[in-house]
Amino acid sequence: MCGIVGYTGLQPAAPILVSGLKKLEYRGYDSSGIAVEQGGSITCVCRAGKIDALEQSLGAFQLTGSCGIGHTRWATHGAPSEANAHPHMSCDGKIAIVHNGIIENHDELRRILEGRGHEFTSQTDSEVIVHLIEDAYASLAFDVSEADDLVDAVGGRVPHQPTVEVRRGEPSLLAQAVNMASSLLIGSWAICAMTEFEPGKIVCARKESPLVVGRGVNGMYISSDMTALSGIAKEVCVLEDGQLAELDERTFDVFKAHDDELIRVTPSMTELDWTVDWMDRGRFSDFMMKEISEQPRVIRDTLEDRFNGSALTVSELGLTHEELNLIDRVYIIACGTSYHASLIAKNLIEGWARIPCEVEVASEFRYRDPIITPSTLVVAVSQSGETADTLAAIRDAKIKGAKVFGITNVIGSPVARESDGVIYTKANKEVAVASTKSFTGQIVSLTLLAMLLAQSKGRLSQGQIRMLFTELVDTASQAEEILKDTEAVNEAAFACKDAHSAMFIGRGMGAAVAEEGALKLKEISYLHAEAYPAGEMKHGPIALIEPGFPVIAVATESPTYDKVLSNIQEAKARGAKIIAVATEGDERIGEFADHVIFIPKVRDALSPITAIIPLQLLAREIAILRGCNIDQPRNLAKSVTVE
Ligand code: G6P
Repeated sequence: MCGIVGYTGLQPAAPILVSGLKKLEYRGYDSSGIAVEQGGSITCVCRAGKIDALEQSLGAFQLTGSCGIGHTRWATHGAPSEANAHPHMSCDGKIAIVHNGIIENHDELRRILEGRGHEFTSQTDSEVIVHLIEDAYASLAFDVSEADDLVDAVGGRVPHQPTVEVRRGEPSLLAQAVNMASSLLIGSWAICAMTEFEPGKIVCARKESPLVVGRGVNGMYISSDMTALSGIAKEVCVLEDGQLAELDERTFDVFKAHDDELIRVTPSMTELDWTVDWMDRGRFSDFMMKEISEQPRVIRDTLEDRFNGSALTVSELGLTHEELNLIDRVYIIACGTSYHASLIAKNLIEGWARIPCEVEVASEFRYRDPIITPSTLVVAVSQSGETADTLAAIRDAKIKGAKVFGITNVIGSPVARESDGVIYTKANKEVAVASTKSFTGQIVSLTLLAMLLAQSKGRLSQGQIRMLFTELVDTASQAEEILKDTEAVNEAAFACKDAHSAMFIGRGMGAAVAEEGALKLKEISYLHAEAYPAGEMKHGPIALIEPGFPVIAVATESPTYDKVLSNIQEAKARGAKIIAVATEGDERIGEFADHVIFIPKVRDALSPITAIIPLQLLAREIAILRGCNIDQPRNLAKSVTVE
C-alpha cells in the first residue's frame, strides 16, 4: 500500500525516482510526488493521478539534484489530490518526508502542532510527521530548549545552518530528529526524510511497514519493496522494525532505536538477482494475462521436490510430524483472493485429515476471541506476506499459544518470518493487482498442507498420497490445455459485457471457485458480481434474475453436479443467461447453458486449480470489452499494509 523510493548518489535523482515509482505503482496509484534537493534547497513536485502525470510535469522543473525521495499513494486519510500527495514539507520548506502506513494519533498530534504554530497544507495523517521532525530538528540543531523558542524556530526564523555539531560516527541530526519524532507516533510507518541542512543525506525508519535499503554502483537506494531495486541495487538490507538507516551518496549506516538513543547495528545484506526483470510483460498486453499464462509453471514449481516417492516432504515446514499429529483444530486466516483459496482448503483438511477447520477473514479473526490452544494450527495465507490484518492476526494467535504456519509468495516476508513453518507458493512476483497465479500457488500449497496433515494423522495411505500427488502434478498440463483455446470464454464475455450485474454459483469446491470468479469480475471490470452457494439462490438472490441476467455456474463433475444442474435450470426458467464451466464430455450441460466453457476432467478435490482459469480469463475479457485498466483497477492496491 503506497510505495516509497529514495536515492542519493552520483546521478540525477529525478529519473531514478520516477522509474522506481513506476515499478511500485501497483501498490497504489492515485497520486505521486518527488522531492529533490539541489542548489541548497528542496524542490517538491506532486501530482494527482498516475505517475505518468508526474513525469510529464517534471520537465518544467529542471531537476538535476542527485538526492531525493518519492512516493506513490493509495489514499487513506484525505482525498487523492495534489495537496494530499507526498512528499510533505515542513513549514519552512527545509525538510521533506514521505510515509507509508497509518498514524493513529495524528488528530491529537496535529492539534498540538497547530497550537505551536505549525501550518498544515494537507488532510493526511502523514503530514504530522514532517512537523514533528521540524520541531525535533530545531531543538537538536539550534540549541533551543524553551517551548516559545521552538515556536520561533519554525516559520522561517531559524538560522541557515545548524549551530550544533555532530561528533564523527554519531547519527546525524536528521537521524536523531526522525527518531525523536517516531517516538511520538502511534501506528505503523515507513518514513523517508531529507533536509536541506544536510545535503546528500536521507534518513529512513520503519515500524510494521516494509523498507529496504540498497547499495548500487552509482549510489544508495531506498524502497518499500525490493521490486523497485531490481536491476539497480546489487545488494540490499531489509530493515527490521525499529531500525533506522542513514544514507549518503557513498554508504549507509543502520541504527536500532533504544529508548532515545540510536545504537549502530551491522546491516545484514542480501545479494539481488540482477538477471530478472519483473516489470517485463514480454509478449503479453498486460501483466494479468502474463500471470494467468504462468499458472502451469506455478503448479509445477510449487510441487517440485515435494514427494520423495513414498511420502510428502516439505523441508521448510518447521513442524515435526509429531507436532502435526497433535493438531486438533485449524484456523485459516487470509484476505481477498487468499481468503478464497483458504475456503477451498477447508474442504480438503476436513475431508482428508478429518481435523475441524475454520476459515476466517483476518480483519474479523483478530478482533474476536477464537478458541486457541497449543494444539491449534493457525495458517496465514498471504500472497504479499505483509497484509496488515493477516499479520496482526498471526501475532495475536502466537501470543495465545497457537502454532502458526504461513503460505506466502514472498521469501523473507513478515508472514514467512513470523510463522513457525512456511510453504512458498513459487508464483514469483505478481504485478497485476488482481491476483491470479498466486491463487493457484496458494491452492496447490494448501492442498499439500492438507495432504501433509492427513499423512501425519495416518488418514491417507501412501498409495492414496502418491495418487493424489500425481493428479496434482497433472493439473499443470490440464491448465495448459485450458489456456490454449479461449474462444468459448471470449464468446461468453461478449455476451456479458453490457450487463449491470452478474451472479456466480457453485456447490462444494465450486462454491469457493464462484466466490473468486465474482471477485475477479468486480475487481477489474467494475461489473457488480455476487457469488452464492447454488443452493442458497432460492433464498433471496433469485429475485434478481430477469431475462438476460448472467448467471455463471461452476458445474464441473462432482458429487453435487446434479444439484447444480437443477439450480441452473431454476435460473434458466427465469430468463437468466447461463454461462457454465463444465467437464469435457458432459453432454447434459449444453441443454441448459447458453455458453459452455469445457475444462479437462479432474478429481473434484483438485478441480478449483483448473476451474478458476476460465473465470480469470472471463473477467479479464469482460474488463477489456468495457475499456477498463486491467492491471491497475480503480481504488485498489496490490498490497494492503494498513488495517
Ligand atoms: C489486496 C489485493 C488482493 C489480495 C488481498 C490479500 O486486496 O488486491 O489481490 O488478495 O490484498 O493480499 P495478500 O497479499 O495477503 O494475499
